[in-house]
Amino acid sequence: MNADQVNAYLAPLRDRYPESRALILPALKYAQTEKGWLDLEDLEAVAEATGLTSAYVESVASFYDRLYLRPTGRRIVSVCVTLSCMLRGSDQLYARLCDLEGLPPEGGTSEDGGVTIQTAQCLGYCDKAPCVQVDVDETEGPVLPDEAEEFLAKVRAAAQPTEVWR
Ligand code: FES
Repeated sequence: MNADQVNAYLAPLRDRYPESRALILPALKYAQTEKGWLDLEDLEAVAEATGLTSAYVESVASFYDRLYLRPTGRRIVSVCVTLSCMLRGSDQLYARLCDLEGLPPEGGTSEDGGVTIQTAQCLGYCDKAPCVQVDVDETEGPVLPDEAEEFLAKVRAAAQPTEVWR
């Protein structure tokens, strides 16, 4: 993605968002549509198009769970690790999912690129704890630690999502 492409995308938004900083999220989201994650070139394109520094743009990109600074898998599994889910076993579920995919404790993307496992803060489904979100629109729970294998098989078998902020 280059600055001209980002500028073209932002052109109709500039009247609505006259403040440059307000354009960062739409610009980053757009830049991520190309390959599903943001590399240095993408961050620099957004910086140039918004007139902000690359460091500022990177600080915003690194804050949000749905903006990825590394390649992601075909499906993205976010395990809630906030209190209600943690009390119902989300730590064990997360560890089991990482283990099944051969990932380190901090999660990441499986070797075959099929799945990214990450933690998330409260997904707003505390009554379904422990709760998991797949991509951006499928939230499911409870998913118990001993259901991890079955859950992963189901996620891997599902079709590629059409909208995952990429
Ligand atoms: S604490 Fe997990 S969804 Fe709210």
